[in-house]
Amino acid sequence: MFDATERASIRARRMEAYRPNMPPASLLKEAGIHTVIDLATNENHYGIPECLSEAILAEARDNLNHYPESSCLDLRLLLAAKHNVAAEQILVDNGLDAVIGLVGRTFLDETDEIVTASATFPAYKNIADIIGATTIEIPLTSDYQLNLEAILNACNRKTKAIFLCNPNNPTGTIFSALEFRQLMENLPSQILTVVDEAFADFVDDPDFPDTVSLLPRYPNLVILKSFSKGYPMAGLRIGYAIADTEIIDMMMRIREPFPVNRLAIAAAIAALNHPQEFTQIRQENKRIREQTIDRIKAMGFDTTQSQTNFLFVDLKQPVTPVLKQLLSKGIVLRDLSSFGYPTAVRMCLGPKKWIDAALSELAKIIETPTP
Ligand SMILES: Cc1ncc(COP(=O)(O)O)c(C=O)c1O
Repeated sequence: MFDATERASIRARRMEAYRPNMPPASLLKEAGIHTVIDLATNENHYGIPECLSEAILAEARDNLNHYPESSCLDLRLLLAAKHNVAAEQILVDNGLDAVIGLVGRTFLDETDEIVTASATFPAYKNIADIIGATTIEIPLTSDYQLNLEAILNACNRKTKAIFLCNPNNPTGTIFSALEFRQLMENLPSQILTVVDEAFADFVDDPDFPDTVSLLPRYPNLVILKSFSKGYPMAGLRIGYAIADTEIIDMMMRIREPFPVNRLAIAAAIAALNHPQEFTQIRQENKRIREQTIDRIKAMGFDTTQSQTNFLFVDLKQPVTPVLKQLLSKGIVLRDLSSFGYPTAVRMCLGPKKWIDAALSELAKIIETPTP
């Protein structure tokens, strides 16, 4: 008999499958939960502009039988103009998850180390684990920020890459342009520096680094951007890297031939051609974010000054039982115990009526007044 566990690669055997935040709808229905407010997954909940659905329908009608254009040239030209770089400095892939995997498979070997934060997006450690590289995880500062000084100090001869999430998921905090320059000036130039800016479209802090403008000075820099957060396009799976052409060339050797589907490319082009529709979405998020931060604080919980479309909320008590009770009311938040914060949750922002529902159920369970 074929023994899949025994025959699987060493890499597959040491991994665990991804566990989604949200139980599948069918299981929720079985448990008697029919209406669900999913604030556990970081998505864009502010509506889908018509320019996206029109572009997708037209592309499906005319071109579904054709493979996509492999290099996504038309899209890369628009992105190049937006970021003021050459189209050869851009690589598009099937979501940032895929880009992160590609960075790992292009640059990491088993003997390498990466340095990242301990409470951050898990995909960096995940790809290092798949390859068998070692991950050094640096705790956040007491105010939930990436500790760039400690990350720098943890680098050694084995360090192949550092992965920095800015703004950081799950804390929503940013590091400043000044902190980033200090890091880059002191980091050995042979260390690949990956800055994941998946949530950058929501940032309004003027201290946020303009990383793309630093590319000519730091050829070891890779900047990652997504269409899943600032744009309501997580279901399409499309993200990109901006870097020196030599880095992009190496990554293109490993990338699959047709990783980005036609509908995603068409929608991304439409999104870039209608920027005003997305500016509105981000303004709405900022308004909801400011209101919700105030409400959370008024309930007696701690939160960071998030620069994203989600909040890190310290409920100051173990959250796992609280989240179970919330789930029974159809409200799903992200448990941050596995990030080292057993009293904290991550709550995605969205329409006010969703936030109202989540906060009022939370207030009933924890017995605080709802503001
Ligand atoms: C920090 C960060 N990077 C990357 C991703 C993956 O984004 P994408 O949907 O483009 O694969 C996520 C998704 O949650 C994220 O939070």
